[in-house]
Amino acid sequence: ADVPSPYRPLAGRRIVITSGPTHEPIDPVRYIANRSSGKQGHAIAAAAAAAGAEVLLVAGPVNLPDPYGVTVVHVETAREMLAAVKAALPADAAVMAAAVADWRVASEGGQKIKKDGSGKPPSLEFVENPDILATVGHDEALRPKLLVGFAAETQNVLENAQSKLVRKRADWIVANDVSAETGIMGGDANTVRIITASGIEDWPSMDKQEVATRLVRRIADFLGGL
Ligand code: CTP
Ligand code: CA
Repeated sequence: ADVPSPYRPLAGRRIVITSGPTHEPIDPVRYIANRSSGKQGHAIAAAAAAAGAEVLLVAGPVNLPDPYGVTVVHVETAREMLAAVKAALPADAAVMAAAVADWRVASEGGQKIKKDGSGKPPSLEFVENPDILATVGHDEALRPKLLVGFAAETQNVLENAQSKLVRKRADWIVANDVSAETGIMGGDANTVRIITASGIEDWPSMDKQEVATRLVRRIADFLGGL
C-alpha cells in the first residue's frame, strides 16, 4: 500500500522511435553499414516506456536487447525501416534516432560478386535511400504532434542541424558532434544541443541514458497531460 506510484507522464501516449544503423545489401554476403550502436535510440525507447508510453521501436541491426516494455520491429534496410515507420504511424510523437544509410547499391546482385582475375575491382553504383524523417515531416497524414530528428555532424553542427530542422520539417533536432575528436559514435556518452524553431539549448555532456531521460521529460512536457 505504501509503494510509491511511478511518475508516468506519457501514460496513454503512443511514441514511434527509430534506432540503430541500417544495412544495405551489395550481394547475398556483403552489405554497407555505419558505426551506429543504437544505444541512444534504444535508451530513448526504454525511457519513454518507463514514462508510461506505448512505444513502437523500429530497430536496425544492433547488438542490444529489446528494451523492456517496448514493442520492437526489427528491420535491415532503409526501405524496410520506412515501411515499418509508416505502418506504425500516426502517433503522438516520433523520434528518429536511427543512422539510416544515405545510399544503397543501385542493383543488388543475386549472386556473390566474384573476383574476375583481372586485378580490377568492381565498381558499385549507388542510389539515395528514402529520407524517413523528411517523408514523415512532409506528410500531414503521418505527421505526429511532435516530430524529433537527430543530426550527426562532424563539422558546422549548428548550421547543419538548423537546415535539417527546416528541410525535414522536424519540430526539434537533437544535434550531436560525431567528429573523431569527440569520439561519440558507439560510446556511452553524448553531448547534444536541442534545436527548435524558438532557439537552441546546449546540454552538458552526459551519458546516453541521461540524454534519453531528459528528452523524454521534455517530450512529456510538450505533450502535456491527457
Ligand atoms: N534520416 C532519415 N532517413 C534518411 C536519412 C536520415 O530518417 N535516409 C533521419 C535521421 O534518422 C536523423 C535525421 O534524418 O533523424 C538526420 O540524419 P543525418 O544523417 O544527420 O542527415 P542527412 O539528411 O542524411 O544528411 P547528411 O548525412 O548528409 O548530413
Ligand atoms: Ca545521413
